[in-house]
Amino acid sequence: MDLYQPEIVNINGEEFRVYLTHEEIQQRIKQLGKELSKDYKDKKPIFIGVLNGAYIFLADLMRYVTIPCEVDFLKLSSYGDEKVSSGEVQELKEIDADIEGRHVILVEDIIDTGLSMKFLADKMNRMNPASVSVVTLLHKKEATRYDLQIDYTGFNIPNLFVVGYGLDFAQEGRNLSQIYILQKG
Ligand code: PRP
Repeated sequence: MDLYQPEIVNINGEEFRVYLTHEEIQQRIKQLGKELSKDYKDKKPIFIGVLNGAYIFLADLMRYVTIPCEVDFLKLSSYGDEKVSSGEVQELKEIDADIEGRHVILVEDIIDTGLSMKFLADKMNRMNPASVSVVTLLHKKEATRYDLQIDYTGFNIPNLFVVGYGLDFAQEGRNLSQIYILQKG
């Protein structure tokens, strides 16, 4: 399969260069899948992906999980088309599953300020699940301002704008199979 993976890419007039390669990403996700399969053995967890950004990560992660599991999605937005969080979370789609008594694994592409995940973890905990844990592919530790428990992290990254592998810049760039970082600024 020929994946879309240039070294440098221009999106909406800004230049991005590759930061995490396809191989590095897949290798790490494979490890996370193994860890989750061990930790959730006999628990039939339900993965809840946060649209839009997490769809590619979740699709890959689940294929490295070797225990019975389910999936559902919800949709949040806090960035609109900007590079900086609006500070408000909008709920654009609810989950369909009943998560009472279930082991829930929240799946994000990135935790930046932590606002979205804080909002989501609080919301899920009010639904009486058996447990809630958080998996994120990327974590910008320096930018996180909310008190959050992050149980599984793919990569800690610097506080710079990233795009690709599900992450967008003004809705573009999600189809890149690697993760790219803004060249300047
Ligand atoms: C991104 C990302 C997370 C959130 C992280 O979503 O997918 O949900 O921002 O930022 P935070 O930690 O500062 O809350 P975005 O609002 O850009 O929507 P998208 O997933 O549709 O791209």
